[in-house]
Amino acid sequence: MTPWIKSQTSDRYLAPIRQQIIDRIPDQSHVWEVGCGTGALLLEAAPKLKLGIGWDADPSLIHFANCRRQKMGIGHIAFETHRVHGTSTPPYPMDLAIACLFFHVMPIDAAVEILEQMAMISSRVIIMGFCQPSTQKQARLNWLDQRFTGHYLHFEAYQEAGALAGIIEMARLNIEDHWHTHDESLVCYELSS
Ligand SMILES: C[S@@+](CC[C@H](N)C(=O)[O-])C[C@H]1O[C@@H](n2cnc3c(N)ncnc32)[C@H](O)[C@@H]1O
Repeated sequence: MTPWIKSQTSDRYLAPIRQQIIDRIPDQSHVWEVGCGTGALLLEAAPKLKLGIGWDADPSLIHFANCRRQKMGIGHIAFETHRVHGTSTPPYPMDLAIACLFFHVMPIDAAVEILEQMAMISSRVIIMGFCQPSTQKQARLNWLDQRFTGHYLHFEAYQEAGALAGIIEMARLNIEDHWHTHDESLVCYELSS
Protein backbone atom coordinates (compact mmCIF):
# COMPACT_ATOMS: atom_id res chain seq x y z
CA MET A 1 0.00 0.00 0.00
CA THR A 2 1.49 3.38 -0.93
CA PRO A 3 1.66 6.06 1.78
CA TRP A 4 -1.00 8.09 -0.07
CA ILE A 5 -3.43 5.14 -0.26
CA LYS A 6 -2.79 4.43 3.43
CA SER A 7 -3.59 8.05 4.26
CA GLN A 8 -6.89 7.79 2.37
CA THR A 9 -7.96 4.38 3.71
CA SER A 10 -6.68 2.94 7.00
CA ASP A 11 -5.66 6.37 8.36
CA ARG A 12 -9.22 7.63 7.82
CA TYR A 13 -10.73 4.52 9.39
CA LEU A 14 -8.46 4.90 12.43
CA ALA A 15 -9.15 8.64 12.92
CA PRO A 16 -11.62 8.19 15.84
CA ILE A 17 -9.10 5.95 17.64
CA ARG A 18 -6.33 8.49 17.18
CA GLN A 19 -8.65 11.13 18.65
CA GLN A 20 -9.25 8.94 21.73
CA ILE A 21 -5.48 8.83 22.21
CA ILE A 22 -4.92 12.54 21.50
CA ASP A 23 -7.56 13.43 24.12
CA ARG A 24 -5.28 11.80 26.71
CA ILE A 25 -2.16 13.75 25.80
CA PRO A 26 -1.51 16.58 28.28
CA ASP A 27 -0.71 20.00 26.79
CA GLN A 28 2.95 20.78 26.15
CA SER A 29 3.99 17.12 26.17
CA HIS A 30 7.12 15.56 24.73
CA VAL A 31 5.85 12.54 22.80
CA TRP A 32 7.69 9.72 21.04
CA GLU A 33 5.76 7.50 18.61
CA VAL A 34 7.29 4.26 17.36
CA GLY A 35 6.04 2.87 14.04
CA CYS A 36 4.43 6.23 13.27
CA GLY A 37 3.51 5.31 9.66
CA THR A 38 2.28 8.40 7.75
CA GLY A 39 2.62 10.54 10.90
CA ALA A 40 -1.12 11.15 11.20
CA LEU A 41 -1.26 10.88 15.00
CA LEU A 42 1.57 13.30 15.80
CA LEU A 43 0.45 15.78 13.12
CA GLU A 44 -3.10 15.80 14.48
CA ALA A 45 -1.78 16.08 18.04
CA ALA A 46 0.64 18.92 17.08
CA PRO A 47 -1.22 21.77 18.86
CA LYS A 48 -0.90 19.87 22.17
CA LEU A 49 2.76 18.98 21.83
CA LYS A 50 5.89 20.78 22.87
CA LEU A 51 7.92 18.22 20.92
CA GLY A 52 7.03 15.16 18.86
CA ILE A 53 9.35 12.48 17.53
CA GLY A 54 8.03 9.87 15.11
CA TRP A 55 10.13 6.89 14.07
CA ASP A 56 9.31 4.34 11.41
CA ALA A 57 11.41 1.75 9.58
CA ASP A 58 9.82 2.58 6.20
CA PRO A 59 11.54 5.55 4.50
CA SER A 60 8.64 6.13 2.09
CA LEU A 61 6.24 6.61 5.02
CA ILE A 62 8.69 8.97 6.75
CA HIS A 63 9.11 10.96 3.54
CA PHE A 64 5.32 11.25 3.22
CA ALA A 65 5.03 12.31 6.90
CA ASN A 66 7.72 14.96 6.47
CA CYS A 67 6.07 16.38 3.31
CA ARG A 68 2.77 16.72 5.19
CA ARG A 69 4.55 18.27 8.17
CA GLN A 70 6.22 20.87 5.94
CA LYS A 71 2.94 21.68 4.14
CA MET A 72 1.31 22.23 7.54
CA GLY A 73 4.23 24.48 8.63
CA ILE A 74 4.94 22.39 11.74
CA GLY A 75 8.45 22.76 13.16
CA HIS A 76 8.26 21.03 16.54
CA ILE A 77 7.75 17.49 15.22
CA ALA A 78 10.52 15.37 13.69
CA PHE A 79 9.92 12.24 11.62
CA GLU A 80 12.93 9.99 11.16
CA THR A 81 13.62 6.66 9.51
CA HIS A 82 14.63 4.31 12.32
CA ARG A 83 14.22 0.56 12.68
CA VAL A 84 13.49 0.50 16.40
CA HIS A 85 14.91 -2.35 18.46
CA GLY A 86 15.30 -3.06 22.15
CA THR A 87 17.97 -0.47 22.79
CA SER A 88 17.06 2.39 20.46
CA THR A 89 15.29 5.36 22.01
CA PRO A 90 15.53 9.13 21.77
CA PRO A 91 18.47 10.37 23.86
CA TYR A 92 16.29 12.18 26.45
CA PRO A 93 13.24 11.29 28.57
CA MET A 94 9.77 11.74 27.07
CA ASP A 95 6.41 12.42 28.78
CA LEU A 96 4.59 9.86 26.67
CA ALA A 97 5.54 7.01 24.33
CA ILE A 98 2.93 5.75 21.86
CA ALA A 99 2.70 2.74 19.53
CA CYS A 100 -0.34 1.96 17.37
CA LEU A 101 -0.83 -1.30 15.46
CA PHE A 102 2.85 -1.99 15.93
CA PHE A 103 3.54 -5.07 18.03
CA HIS A 104 1.86 -7.67 15.78
CA VAL A 105 4.22 -6.95 12.84
CA MET A 106 7.39 -8.26 14.54
CA PRO A 107 8.67 -11.24 16.54
CA ILE A 108 7.34 -11.43 20.11
CA ASP A 109 10.73 -10.97 21.77
CA ALA A 110 11.35 -7.79 19.75
CA ALA A 111 7.87 -6.49 20.67
CA VAL A 112 8.46 -7.11 24.38
CA GLU A 113 11.91 -5.50 24.29
CA ILE A 114 10.64 -2.38 22.53
CA LEU A 115 7.70 -2.04 24.92
CA GLU A 116 10.07 -2.32 27.90
CA GLN A 117 12.27 0.34 26.33
CA MET A 118 9.29 2.66 25.79
CA ALA A 119 8.41 2.37 29.49
CA MET A 120 12.01 3.10 30.47
CA ILE A 121 12.22 6.36 28.57
CA SER A 122 8.71 7.58 29.33
CA SER A 123 6.64 7.60 32.51
CA ARG A 124 3.46 7.04 30.48
CA VAL A 125 2.93 4.66 27.59
CA ILE A 126 -0.16 4.35 25.38
CA ILE A 127 -0.45 1.45 22.96
CA MET A 128 -3.20 0.40 20.59
CA GLY A 129 -3.50 -2.90 18.76
CA PHE A 130 -5.34 -6.14 18.15
CA CYS A 131 -6.92 -7.80 21.18
CA GLN A 132 -7.76 -11.48 21.30
CA PRO A 133 -10.95 -12.09 19.31
CA SER A 134 -13.95 -12.85 21.48
CA THR A 135 -16.10 -14.31 18.67
CA GLN A 136 -15.50 -16.59 15.69
CA LYS A 137 -16.64 -13.80 13.39
CA GLN A 138 -14.05 -11.41 14.81
CA ALA A 139 -11.34 -14.08 14.51
CA ARG A 140 -12.23 -14.66 10.85
CA LEU A 141 -12.22 -10.94 10.06
CA ASN A 142 -8.80 -10.54 11.71
CA TRP A 143 -7.52 -13.51 9.73
CA LEU A 144 -8.76 -11.96 6.48
CA ASP A 145 -7.21 -8.59 7.40
CA GLN A 146 -3.80 -10.09 8.26
CA ARG A 147 -3.44 -13.30 6.23
CA PHE A 148 -2.09 -11.68 3.08
CA THR A 149 0.32 -9.27 4.76
CA GLY A 150 4.07 -9.94 4.88
CA HIS A 151 3.95 -10.23 8.68
CA TYR A 152 1.25 -12.90 9.00
CA LEU A 153 3.51 -15.35 10.87
CA HIS A 154 4.27 -12.65 13.44
CA PHE A 155 0.55 -11.90 13.78
CA GLU A 156 -0.15 -15.61 14.40
CA ALA A 157 2.52 -15.78 17.11
CA TYR A 158 1.20 -12.54 18.63
CA GLN A 159 -2.31 -14.00 18.85
CA GLU A 160 -0.95 -17.18 20.42
CA ALA A 161 0.98 -15.11 22.97
CA GLY A 162 -2.26 -13.42 24.12
CA ALA A 163 -2.20 -10.44 21.73
CA LEU A 164 -1.62 -6.98 23.23
CA ALA A 165 -2.46 -8.10 26.79
CA GLY A 166 0.08 -10.93 26.48
CA ILE A 167 2.86 -8.58 25.34
CA ILE A 168 2.10 -6.22 28.25
CA GLU A 169 2.27 -9.10 30.72
CA MET A 170 5.59 -10.29 29.30
CA ALA A 171 7.01 -6.76 29.60
CA ARG A 172 5.78 -6.72 33.24
CA LEU A 173 4.11 -3.31 32.94
CA ASN A 174 1.14 -2.06 34.94
CA ILE A 175 -2.15 -1.39 33.20
CA GLU A 176 -3.36 2.04 34.37
CA ASP A 177 -6.37 2.11 32.07
CA HIS A 178 -7.74 0.50 28.97
CA TRP A 179 -10.54 1.40 26.60
CA HIS A 180 -12.39 0.00 23.62
CA THR A 181 -12.61 1.56 20.19
CA HIS A 182 -15.18 1.65 17.38
CA ASP A 183 -13.51 -1.51 16.05
CA GLU A 184 -14.09 -4.45 18.38
CA SER A 185 -10.73 -5.97 17.35
CA LEU A 186 -8.73 -2.94 18.46
CA VAL A 187 -8.07 -1.93 22.05
CA CYS A 188 -5.99 0.78 23.76
CA TYR A 189 -3.97 0.53 26.98
CA GLU A 190 -2.34 3.15 29.13
CA LEU A 191 0.66 1.65 30.96
CA SER A 192 3.25 2.50 33.54
CA SER A 193 6.41 0.71 34.63
C1 LIG B 1 0.65 -1.70 10.83
S1 LIG B 1 1.66 -0.30 10.59
C2 LIG B 1 0.97 0.88 11.71
C3 LIG B 1 1.33 2.29 11.35
C4 LIG B 1 0.69 3.37 12.23
N1 LIG B 1 1.15 3.29 13.61
C5 LIG B 1 -0.82 3.29 12.18
O1 LIG B 1 -1.45 3.15 13.24
O2 LIG B 1 -1.38 3.40 11.10
C6 LIG B 1 3.15 -0.79 11.41
C7 LIG B 1 4.28 0.20 11.17
O3 LIG B 1 5.41 -0.19 11.94
C8 LIG B 1 6.56 0.04 11.16
N2 LIG B 1 7.62 -0.82 11.72
C9 LIG B 1 7.67 -2.17 11.76
N3 LIG B 1 8.76 -2.60 12.43
C10 LIG B 1 9.40 -1.49 12.85
C11 LIG B 1 10.57 -1.23 13.61
N4 LIG B 1 11.31 -2.23 14.09
N5 LIG B 1 10.92 0.04 13.85
C12 LIG B 1 10.19 1.07 13.38
N6 LIG B 1 9.07 0.90 12.66
C13 LIG B 1 8.68 -0.35 12.39
C14 LIG B 1 6.15 -0.27 9.73
O4 LIG B 1 6.99 0.33 8.79
C15 LIG B 1 4.73 0.27 9.73
O5 LIG B 1 4.68 1.62 9.31
